[in-house]
Amino acid sequence: MRDYNIDEVDHLIRNRRSIYPNMYSGEEVSDEVIKSMLENANWAPTHRLTEPWRFVVFKGEGIKKLATFQSELYKKLTTEDGTFDKSKYEKLAQRPLLCSHIIAIGLKRDPKKSVPEVEEIASVAAAVQNMYLTATSNGVGCYWGSGGVTYKEEAKGFFNLGSEDKLLGFLYIGMPKGKWPQGRRKPIEEKVTWVIDQ
Ligand SMILES: Cc1cc2nc3c(=O)[nH]c(=O)nc-3n(C[C@H](O)[C@H](O)[C@H](O)COP(=O)(O)O)c2cc1C
Repeated sequence: MRDYNIDEVDHLIRNRRSIYPNMYSGEEVSDEVIKSMLENANWAPTHRLTEPWRFVVFKGEGIKKLATFQSELYKKLTTEDGTFDKSKYEKLAQRPLLCSHIIAIGLKRDPKKSVPEVEEIASVAAAVQNMYLTATSNGVGCYWGSGGVTYKEEAKGFFNLGSEDKLLGFLYIGMPKGKWPQGRRKPIEEKVTWVIDQ
């Protein structure tokens, strides 16, 4: 049985946008919406039902802890290798504070490694898309960021991840202010080949 409004689903998918922290109003997003995003994440496709997505939700004082952790880790690592940039440090310390919630996006590697890692990454990405769409349908802004300490081995422990696991970034969340942005995509025809009769 089909009980979806196709036009609305198409519109939701095409109207989903990345909404960045400088576009947030400062108003808090309800935990109900966050829980609904997480519940929908849990229904992403997953080969062999490994369900590799893991999330840590930061809010309030939790966001301050995250901001301190990531800016101090950045400072430590870049002071060691001589690439410290004060403006990047300040961005890591300040930008999270513009958000209502931040969800760290983790990948827990199945101990049996029953599917290739790329399939687990694909599965977590699908879970993130479910969160993006749920946010959009609730009029909430979010964006997937993979900057800062995302790919640093030293960051994993803070997010309950082990050495075989991966941190894939952060979903920054807030109530949008101003106009919902326009998307940009090149036509699908440029990216598709049909193999058909004749
Ligand atoms: C895996 C992944 C990582 C991303 N990391 C960043 C990032 O670090 N910084 C950023 O500005 N946008 C990041 N984005 C968001 C893209 O910039 C955004 O999806 C793109 O501009 C298209 O805009 P739209 O999401 O509104 O369609 C990331 C997206 C994905 C899928």
